[in-house]
Amino acid sequence: MQVKVIDHPLIQHKLTLIRDIRTGTKDFRELLEEIAMLMAYELTRDLPLEEIEVETPVAKCRAKVLAGKKISVVPILRAGLGMVSGVLQLIPAAKVGHIGVYRDPQTLKPVEYYCKLPPDVCEREVIVIDPMLATGGSSVAAIDMLKRGGAKQIKLMCLVAAPEGVKVVNDAHPDVEIYTAAVDECLNDHGYIVPGLGDAGDRIFGTK
Ligand code: PRP
Ligand code: URA
Repeated sequence: MQVKVIDHPLIQHKLTLIRDIRTGTKDFRELLEEIAMLMAYELTRDLPLEEIEVETPVAKCRAKVLAGKKISVVPILRAGLGMVSGVLQLIPAAKVGHIGVYRDPQTLKPVEYYCKLPPDVCEREVIVIDPMLATGGSSVAAIDMLKRGGAKQIKLMCLVAAPEGVKVVNDAHPDVEIYTAAVDECLNDHGYIVPGLGDAGDRIFGTK
């Protein structure tokens, strides 16, 4: 199973709070944004640097800056929207694409309904974001859409993953690195992650 679990104590603490059934919409949103920001810090660890000359009040020196790698952040609607602002706090210049996929509640199969990507997506490193990786159908569909749109370098960032979903994404897209804060036990008969956190979209937007 190819997946990077980001087990930073702050992320794990906030994840526990977000799982809690008693956590209401306002706190859920704030925690998700905070976790997304902390995860983005880990995801961007390998960004290339270059040296420039800078003059401090004391002396001139060579110092490192980001080499200007272009990044695109692509939330899977709707729940992925809850992580966008956290990621953009760290990567404010990133362009934001949107992919609309929902999971049919009966078949659990992904249904694609929207796609708007930056025109130069093929030159960008794409970070796909969605808090939940359950059966993997939605993520695979989103990555398929991105690749059809020309994206070549893709990472998937989620909050909670099921082992079944990790395998499905690994098998369909072995080139895509998956980052998550937790790999949970399994899926239940309704395709929900156990223990998971329930329906992420409903908890973010207060629709249940
Ligand atoms: C949720 C979640 C993922 C998907 C995961 O979205 O945000 O996109 O389910 O399930 P999968 O791995 O089995 O495909 P949902 O379909 O509930 O749509 P929403 O975000 O619009 O609520
Ligand atoms: N989508 C969610 O929002 N939660 C799950 O546990 C599975 C799919």
